[in-house]
Amino acid sequence: MTDSLEGAGDGTRAVRAGLPEPVKYEPTLPGPVFAAHFHLPGEPTGPYTYGRDENPTWTHLERAIGDLEAPGRDGVETLVFASGMAAVSAVLFSQLRAGDTVVLPSDGYQALPLVRAQLETYGIEVRTAPTGGDAQLKVLDGAKLLWLETPSNPGLDVCDVRRLVETAHARGCVVAVDNTLATPLGQRPLDLGADFSVASGTKQLTGHGDILLGYVAGGDASSMASVRRWRKIAGAIPGPMEAWLAHRSLATLQLRVDRQNANALALAEALRDRPEEIEVRYPGLPGDPSYKIAAQQMRRYGCVVSFSLPTRARADRFLHALRLVDEATSFGGVRSTAERRGRWGGDAVPEGFIRFSAGAEDPEDLVADVLRALDESAE
Ligand SMILES: Cc1ncc(COP(=O)(O)O)c(C=O)c1O
Repeated sequence: MTDSLEGAGDGTRAVRAGLPEPVKYEPTLPGPVFAAHFHLPGEPTGPYTYGRDENPTWTHLERAIGDLEAPGRDGVETLVFASGMAAVSAVLFSQLRAGDTVVLPSDGYQALPLVRAQLETYGIEVRTAPTGGDAQLKVLDGAKLLWLETPSNPGLDVCDVRRLVETAHARGCVVAVDNTLATPLGQRPLDLGADFSVASGTKQLTGHGDILLGYVAGGDASSMASVRRWRKIAGAIPGPMEAWLAHRSLATLQLRVDRQNANALALAEALRDRPEEIEVRYPGLPGDPSYKIAAQQMRRYGCVVSFSLPTRARADRFLHALRLVDEATSFGGVRSTAERRGRWGGDAVPEGFIRFSAGAEDPEDLVADVLRALDESAE
C-alpha cells in the first residue's frame, strides 16, 4: 500500500482519511449507501453482496480509521461495528475457546464484568488485574489473550503497553488494547506492538454524542477473518447513516481532540490548585501517577479528567450548580459532560467521584464554570 498521506500531520490526515479517489461530479465523501442487498447476478462474489456483510459507506470509514490507527502500515484491516461493546465482544468471543484463559482489567469499562460472566459460562477462565503498575504480568502465565484498557475508564490509570506486549508475546499470548479514551490521535496500540486496537467510536472519535459505533483494527489476517466472521454471525453492524456521520466527524478529529484535551489539562491544573483535597487525575498532568508512562506512549492524553469530592451530596450539588456542563454519562463530545460515576454502582470509586469530559468550549468559560460550581457547592 502506498500511503498518499505519508509525512502528513494529524490534521491533514484526519480531513483526508479514507476518502476515495476523486470522481468528476461526485461528492468528496460519498453519501451513505442505504442497501440491504446489492445487484448480484451470477456468482455471488463480493465486494458488495448483502448489507450485513459489507457496505461501501463502511469501507470508506474503515479505511479512514485504519489510516489513523496505523498510518502507512500494510496489512492492517479495520472492521466497524454497531457499538464499542459489539467490537469488544467480537474480539473476545471470536478469539477465545472453552479452556482458554483471558486477562481482563479489574478497573476497566463497567460492562466488562458482564462480559466476564458470559465468557465464564462458555468455559473460558477469566483473570483480572488492575491497569496501573503492570500488575497483569503476575497473572499472564498460560493466558491466550491479554486485554488492556489504557487509560482506564474511569480511573485514568495507564499501563506500559510495549512492556506488556513483549512479555505476553514471549509467552504466546495476544494483546488487545481498548483505545477508546485516547483515540488514534492519542495513542496507536498497533505501533506499540498490540495485536488488536479496539474502541468505542461513540466517544471522542466521533465526538458529537449522537451516534454509537465501534471498531476493531488488527494486522493478523486470520485473526481478523474470525472477527469478521463474528460480525456476520452476531450481526452487530452500524447503520449506513451512522457510518457516514462518523466519517464526516473524523474530518474535525484533530481540531476537536486538541481543543478538548487542552481544556481537560486546563481544568486538571485548576483543580490541582484548589485549596481542598479533590484527588484530581489526568494522565497528561505532570505529577499524576499515570504521567510517566503516558508521556512515553501517548501523543495526546484524552479529554477525561476525574476527581473526587468528599461526599455524594457535595458531588450532586456540584453537578447541579454547573451551567455549561451537561450532567450525562458517556464522554468525548464537544459539549462538556460530567457525572457522579458511583450512581451506576459498577465502578470501584468513591461516592463523590466525578468523571468529567471536557468539551470544546472556551477554556476560560469552562474552568470558570467548574470553579464557580465548586465554590457554590461547598458547605
Ligand atoms: C473504554 C470503553 N470501552 C468500551 C465502551 C463501550 O462502548 P459503547 O458504549 O459504544 O458500546 C465504553 C463506553 O463507555 C468505554 O468507555
